[in-house]
Formats: sequence, C-alpha cells, structure tokens
Amino acid sequence: MPDRILIVDDEPNIRRTLEMVLRSEGFETIEAESAEAALRAVADASPDVAILDVQLPGMSGIDALRAMRRADPDLAVVMISGHATIAIAVEATREGAFDFLEKPLAKERVLVAVRNALRLRAIGREVRGYREREAGRRALVGESEAMRTVREEIARVAPAAARVLIRGESGTGKELVARAIHEASPRKDRPFVKVNCAAIPEELIESELFGSVKGAFTGAVATREGKFEQADGGTIFLDEVGDMSLRAQAKVLRAIQEGEVERVGGSGTIRVDVRVLSATNQDLEALAREGRFREDLYFRLNVVPIRVPPLRERKGDVRILARHFLDRCRIENDLPFRSISEPAMATLDRLPWRGNVRELANAIERLVIMAEGPVISIADLEKAGLLAHPPVESPLRAAGETVPALRTEEIARLGGLAEARRAFEIACIREGLRASGGNVSEAARLLGIDRTNLHKKIQVYGINMERNGTRPEEDGETTPFTERSS
Ligand SMILES: Nc1ncnc2c1ncn2[C@@H]1O[C@H](COP(=O)(O)OP(=O)(O)OP(=O)(O)O)[C@@H](O)[C@H]1O
Ligand SMILES: [Mg+2]
Repeated sequence: MPDRILIVDDEPNIRRTLEMVLRSEGFETIEAESAEAALRAVADASPDVAILDVQLPGMSGIDALRAMRRADPDLAVVMISGHATIAIAVEATREGAFDFLEKPLAKERVLVAVRNALRLRAIGREVRGYREREAGRRALVGESEAMRTVREEIARVAPAAARVLIRGESGTGKELVARAIHEASPRKDRPFVKVNCAAIPEELIESELFGSVKGAFTGAVATREGKFEQADGGTIFLDEVGDMSLRAQAKVLRAIQEGEVERVGGSGTIRVDVRVLSATNQDLEALAREGRFREDLYFRLNVVPIRVPPLRERKGDVRILARHFLDRCRIENDLPFRSISEPAMATLDRLPWRGNVRELANAIERLVIMAEGPVISIADLEKAGLLAHPPVESPLRAAGETVPALRTEEIARLGGLAEARRAFEIACIREGLRASGGNVSEAARLLGIDRTNLHKKIQVYGINMERNGTRPEEDGETTPFTERSS
C-alpha cells in the first residue's frame, strides 16, 4: 500500500505542485483547502503524513496541527510557511510538528521531509506496539475469587508507603503483583528496581544493594551505585528475600530503619527514600526460628502480607489464562489464529500445574509453536508432553471411589469376578467416553490405556459409539454401576 500524504493549503497552486511531486515518487495524496477539511480527512482517510500550511483561512495552522495530532498521535506533520518566523517554527515544534519548510518549496527538501516523517511514524508505531505488549505482559489476568481478592489487596496497599511481603508458590505471579503495586502507587513514575537475592552470590549482594567505591574489593574498578540508590524515590523489590545472607539482612534492616545506605568501602552515608516490597516462596517464620532469617527484619518487611494463591485454587482461571497466553504468543510470533479444542481445554483445566502460571504460560507457548493445525487438540497436548502425568482429578477416579460395595448375592448374580470385572470395565469406558464428549483419545488418556487398546475394547464389548454422551442405562447393557448420577 502506498503511503498516503495529506496536503493542506488554501492555495490551489501549491497543492497541485506538491501533488505532482509526491505522486511522481509513488505516494498517494489527498488534498484539503482548510484546517476543517484537513481534520475530516484525518478522520476519514487516516493519512500517514500531513503537509500543513501555517496560514489558513479559519482555524490557524498551529491550531489545526494541535487538533490533528490529538486525532492521530502517530500522524507526522510537516509545516510549510511563506514567511516563516522563528517564533512560529518554535511553537510548531513544541506542538509536535516534525519539520518546518519555507516557501518557495524545493522538491528535494519536500521529499526528504516526507520520507523522514514516514520513518518517524513507523518508529512511533513500533514503540506504541512495544508499550502495549509490555502492558499486556504486566496485566494480572484472572477472574477467580482468589484473584479478585489479590487485586483488591493490591489496590488497598498501593497508595500507602507500607512494606509488603508477597508470598506464594513458585510461578504464581509474585513479581507481577509487586509491579502492579508499584504501578498503582504514587511512585509509579520513579524507578522499580528488582533484586533477585537468590541469583546474586553472597559476597556480591552487599555491593549490589548498596553500591561500592572504587578499590573496595578486587573487581571494584569504579565507584558504583547500589540498587537502593537506583530506586531512590521509587520502589525496590527484594525477590527471594529468604535467600539473603545474614550480613546483607543486617544492612537492609539498617537501610529500612535509618533511610540511609553506605557503599561498600565508602565512608559517608547516603540518604534514600525507597519503598520496599519483598517476595518469597519460603517459610520465613521457620527460617527465623532456625536463626537463618532475622526476626526483626521479618517484621519490618511483613507489614502487609499478600498471599498469591496457587493456580489450582483459582477456579476457572486456567481457561482464561490459557486463552490470554494463546493470544499473546500468537501475536508475538506473528502466527495465524489458533484456538484450543474444548476437550483439550478441559484437560488443561484438570492438570495439576505445580509450576503454576509460569508452567501454564510455557505450556501454551510450546503448544502454539508445535501444534499442527489451527485448533490445539488433545493429541497436541500429548505431543507437547503435557500428559506424562495423569491429571489429579479425573471423573473416573471419582467414579472409582464411589463404586458401591457388593454383597455376596450380587456377586453371584453378576456371574463371578470375571463378569463383574467386565461390567465394571464397560461402565468405566462409557463414563470415559461421556466425560470426553466421545473423543476416544481423551477417553483413553482418562482411562490410562492407549487408544488402540480402547478401540479394541469398544469393539469387543460392542459399546455403541453413537450413544456416548448418553447415560449408560439407556444403552441396554446391565452393569452393577449404572446408578451413578451424571
Ligand atoms: N495473573 C497472571 N496473569 C498473567 N500472567 C501471569 C499471571 N501470573 C503470572 N503470570 C506470568 O507467569 C510468569 C510467572 O510470574 P512471576 O514471575 O510473577 O511469578 P513468581 O511468583 O515471581 O515466580 P517465582 O517464584 O518462580 O519467581 C510470568 O511470565 C508472568 O507474566
Ligand atoms: Mg519471581
């Protein structure tokens, strides 16, 4: 698609000249003889670049510039004027004009300005896309009761300066919660500085947190500011805080209590104004009892505790998160539309997700990349290695637990163990087929046998495949287990 240039000038001659120059270079042009017409064109034709005369009848060029940029912030505007004054040029630039050309217009100068403006617009769009993706990456997705509670807690603690200790299993979203608190706080325009206490070797953590002066230790080749200083006015996030050495803990305590830090090897202290958020998946109370975590620091950090629940406690969120990651991954990899079949989604919903949201995000990414068709199926889950372990909760396991105890006369009526086993197998297969909506692969997985084996059994027992999804008792075969409600 050719780039579209809007030409705004009340002089028909100028419009015609510009039109010729631009068309000969392959651009598409639209003309407007007033600011009002130009605004309509911006709305209707979304041009990429506008060439705008400063002197227009009616609304002035500067006002038009302002209005056009409001209508489309990505629009790059090149101003032209017959008698440019520095003052107008300065004002135009302040209002976001990209360039300023003087009449008479030189062809090459116009083309250079337009091409540069187009480049700027492309960069602007890229940056915007990047920001939107970043915002998407930071969004806390989920509609479960548990997630609502977390969001409420974030909203409650964000405005205050209170220190928050975020707890939760690995991969539950603790870092995301910390960022959300910062973003919703008055410190949001100041830095958010993350320190992963587990990833920094013990002998370096002090200089990392508090900085070091040149020559303080081997390797300290220059004076460096620490994370507390970097976070001044903002938020510091002490991730995996339970892994901090006792020495570092003492210094953090002091930084919190005194509001000042001392660089390693330095002499003076430096005042810092930092909000401290921390996170851990360890039992800090136990660490404190064992003397591995300072109790006084624990109380300082844990002014407000927030617990991020494991994924298995967030009813319904697996589906919402799966769709969220599916879209994100598809867009980032520039792939066509992908969806997840209902049986596959139901299976994802039942998996234990011991690695929580992180594991789910990684699984979806793997599925999106590996899936052969547009719809992700159970077979894809299998291929991606997601079904290596049986799901914690299968309807069959529940069925097994509710098998009624049999009395002697019932066993006799069934024709002994062999017949009872057969009847039980049939009941299980029917239930598996019902639960999977008639999908043999998923039923086989639920039953813990392979697909060909299940097919064989379906044939041997003459189970009516068209009836799956119906209640077993409508099938005519007698089994002792048909009273299970479905
Ligand atoms: N509610 C959520 N909505 C969307 N994405 C989420 C959510 N929770 C977690 N994530 C994503 O899951 C991944 C893990 O989250 P995060 O790093 O915040 O977890 P964590 O609790 O800090 O884990 P760890 O203990 O392993 O450090 C990240 O990619 C994050 O973006
Ligand atoms: Mg983390």
